[in-house]
Amino acid sequence: MTTDAVDRYILSHIDEEGDLLSALCRDANVTLLRPRMQSGHLQGRILKLFCRMLRPKRILEIGTYTGYATLCMAEGIEDDALIHTIEINDEMEDFIMKYLSRSPDKEKIRLHFGDALEIIPALDESFDMAFIDADKRLYSTYYDLIFPKVRAGGLILVDNTLWDGKVLDAPRCPDKQTAGILEFNEKIKQDRRIEKVILPLRDGLTMIWKK
Ligand SMILES: C[S@@+](CC[C@H](N)C(=O)[O-])C[C@H]1O[C@@H](n2cnc3c(N)ncnc32)[C@H](O)[C@@H]1O
Repeated sequence: MTTDAVDRYILSHIDEEGDLLSALCRDANVTLLRPRMQSGHLQGRILKLFCRMLRPKRILEIGTYTGYATLCMAEGIEDDALIHTIEINDEMEDFIMKYLSRSPDKEKIRLHFGDALEIIPALDESFDMAFIDADKRLYSTYYDLIFPKVRAGGLILVDNTLWDGKVLDAPRCPDKQTAGILEFNEKIKQDRRIEKVILPLRDGLTMIWKK
């Protein structure tokens, strides 16, 4: 059985992503340069289930891109909960709004355009859950910035922590993005304030529980 066949089997035996997200994906694949950056069907359903199980009232997402993961998390939270999502590239606004505006969960989403490094300090919130998924070179910086804003017992999810397997080539002069991921993974390994696992899902998804 090939990996592709396993992937197809999984996707045909889990919850469907729904018409809106399917349309978003098709649009992204036709019109955007790097559609693979978005979470996609499997990871999207996992994010939604995390939300169902943990019932977070406040979520922070760093790196909106198309809004795929944002919409998945919004499906899983209750009506009085809120996701702050931050995207540095304001050229994505039309694309994001095309789908966000059609979502029944749009009221649960606050979209911020700008650099997360400037926006996060200005957010007066305590987060139950955070999803780090932006510039790989800055993962450690994002983590330090959000850590005091995540409540004890909160969950931090971090995407791409295996970085296409490049973390295994570590000693051989990594590029800056791989170096950022390596630095982050080492930092997390040493951090006694948390419990953590790396899930070998897609490109690596680290789950961090703040003690
Ligand atoms: C991997 S994509 C996000 C995918 C999305 N979270 C999902 O799962 O569908 C990363 C996004 O982070 C954005 N980004 C990069 N650096 C950023 C920063 N400093 N602040 C906010 N967004 C940033 C990029 O423009 C890009 O759209």
